[in-house]
Amino acid sequence: MKYKIAVIKGDGIGPEIVDEAIKVLKKMGEKYNHNFEFTEVLAGGIAIDKTGKNLPEETLQVCKESDAVILGAVGGPKWDSLPGNERPEKALLALRKELNLYSNIRPAVMFDILKDTCPLKPEIVEGGMDIVIVRELTGGIYFGKKFTEGNYACDCMEYSKYEIERIAHQAFKIAQSRNKHVTSVDKANVLETSRLWRKTVEEVAKDYPDVKLNHLYVDNAAMQLVVNPKQFDVIVTENMFGDILSDEASMITGSIGLLPSASLGDNNFGMYEPIHGSAPDIAGQGKANPIATILSISMMLKYTFGLQSESDCIENAVKKTLSDGHRTADIARKGEKIITTVEMGNIIVESI
Ligand code: NAI
Ligand code: MG
Repeated sequence: MKYKIAVIKGDGIGPEIVDEAIKVLKKMGEKYNHNFEFTEVLAGGIAIDKTGKNLPEETLQVCKESDAVILGAVGGPKWDSLPGNERPEKALLALRKELNLYSNIRPAVMFDILKDTCPLKPEIVEGGMDIVIVRELTGGIYFGKKFTEGNYACDCMEYSKYEIERIAHQAFKIAQSRNKHVTSVDKANVLETSRLWRKTVEEVAKDYPDVKLNHLYVDNAAMQLVVNPKQFDVIVTENMFGDILSDEASMITGSIGLLPSASLGDNNFGMYEPIHGSAPDIAGQGKANPIATILSISMMLKYTFGLQSESDCIENAVKKTLSDGHRTADIARKGEKIITTVEMGNIIVESI
């Protein structure tokens, strides 16, 4: 079977970390006899420099013809003075919208070995934490009607039933492959959209009798994440609540250089990227941690291609590499030996 993958390296550390992720994927192809086919296309600042556009038509076309997209990161000070619509970051929003990527999936997994980077008390995260946040990405207040009139401004939170249904199905399916528990987060005591949300999620839940469902108001969910994060398996929520809660959950686990994400549309199509940006401060110095991008590849294998054991293989290789004490600068403690981006990639490949 052939898997078609569009590759957008982007700006700053983007090319460095994506190169390591591709190396890992090629190794997986050898080991498991899969045919991964890569097509490199441009987006972001480098696309502006080479074509005058942050998202050239060809890039969009290649992405649409692929099974999945790998993205490094876009943006940097060089393009900061451009108007909003022409900036590199706008290419990302356009990609998400054009590819109808309505579901953003962010695992927040604590690697036991790195638990001293966790800002919570050790007893709260003892034994590890493993949560997946499923955030609705193309609806809600960010995309609702908005206007300003003099000293008055308005943003509307809008949801249609079908938008809630499709994200809820996504969350329940993910829960079925994990610990079979979905927590739906809303503000149904106050918001009409949340009442529709809760009712719809309950209807969808009937298709997944093996999955346990509970509901939390968003203010309580924010609190529970720091008081007792181990109670969660899959959290599903609307766009803005998910934006805030996913950042909160990620940071409980420590370094930004470790955290992957997926944005999924229909038919398992997905764009996979680390949650961090282009890190211009360390670009070109071999300091970037490639693990977030490598774990994004692991998500791609699982969610788009349905290759669960291959996905696990990458995760295990990363865990082993960390347990063996290999550290890029962002996760090294004082006095620990620091390795480069390429060295980290090589060690993970060897471990596979
Ligand atoms: P950033 O995530 O690029 O960097 C924040 C800090 O984390 C920096 O100190 C950086 O060196 C460090 N860092 C990030 N990734 C790392 C890695 N893999 N290994 C080690 N250290 C890492 O966020 P910042 O500085 O706010 O944004 C820089 C540029 O990236 C901006 O132009 C921004 O708009 C863009 N950006 C792009 C995103 C994307 O393409 N998805 C997401 C966030 C920001
Ligand atoms: Mg955010």
